[in-house]
Amino acid sequence: MTTQTLGLEPNLYEYLLSVSVREPEILTQLRQETAQHPMGRMQIAPEQGQLMSLLVKLIGAQKTLEIGVFTGYSTLVVALALPKTGKVVACDISEEFTAIARRYWQQAGVAEKIDLHIAPARETLDRLLASGEAETFDFAFIDADKSNYDNYYERSLQLVRPGGLIVIDNVLWSGRVADSQVQDNRTKKIRAFNQKLHQDSRVTLSLIPIADGLTLARKN
Ligand SMILES: C[S@@+](CC[C@H](N)C(=O)[O-])C[C@H]1O[C@@H](n2cnc3c(N)ncnc32)[C@H](O)[C@@H]1O
Repeated sequence: MTTQTLGLEPNLYEYLLSVSVREPEILTQLRQETAQHPMGRMQIAPEQGQLMSLLVKLIGAQKTLEIGVFTGYSTLVVALALPKTGKVVACDISEEFTAIARRYWQQAGVAEKIDLHIAPARETLDRLLASGEAETFDFAFIDADKSNYDNYYERSLQLVRPGGLIVIDNVLWSGRVADSQVQDNRTKKIRAFNQKLHQDSRVTLSLIPIADGLTLARKN
C-alpha cells in the first residue's frame, strides 16, 4: 500500500502534485490527520482521489458503492463529486476508523449523502442484492480486504448498471505482484484477480499505474 504514486522520483512526484492536484481544504485536513494514524498508509493518494472525483463526474454518477472506508477519504472524495441528490452506500467493519470519517463527512456537509454500513462488506452487498438493488449503482470503489476482492467484484458487477464503473485499488500491490519471489497469500490473490479481469469479457478494462495501481472496469 502507498499514499502516493509508485515509481516516480520524488521531484517528479512533487511536480505532478504541484500542477495537478486541487485538493479541497477539508480533504487536506483529513489526509494530515490520517498521516498520524498507525494505519495511515491505508489511505488513498490525493492524485488518485482527484481522478476518482473526475470519473464520478464524467459518468454522471448518482448512486455509488464504497467498499473499505477507513478514515473516509475516498468516500468524501466521491460524496463531494456527487450532485446534491447523490448517495454513497459505504461499507466497513470498523466503528473506530469510521468515527473519524463521520466527523469529516459532517464537517464537509455531505453526511446526509452517505449511508454507512458497519458489517462485513460481503453481507452488506448480499443484502443490497436481496433487496432488489441490482443494476441500480453507477459506480463502485473496491478498497477493503484483498482476499475478498473477487467476491466484492462479482457482487459489484451485479449491483452496477451496464455502463457503470467499478474501480479497484492496490492492484499493483507496491510492485509485489510482478516479483515472482513474493508468494504470500494476499499477493497471490491479487495476481489471480488481475489475471481474471484481463480475461473478463463482461467489462472494458484499464489498469492505471496511479498510486498503488488502479483498475477501471466498465460494465458492458
Ligand atoms: C485500505 S482501507 C480503505 C481506505 C479508504 N478507501 C481511504 O480512502 O482511506 C481498508 C478498509 O477496509 C476495511 N475492511 C477490512 N475488512 C473488511 C470487510 N470484511 N468488510 C468491510 N470492510 C473491511 C478496514 O476496516 C479498512 O478500513
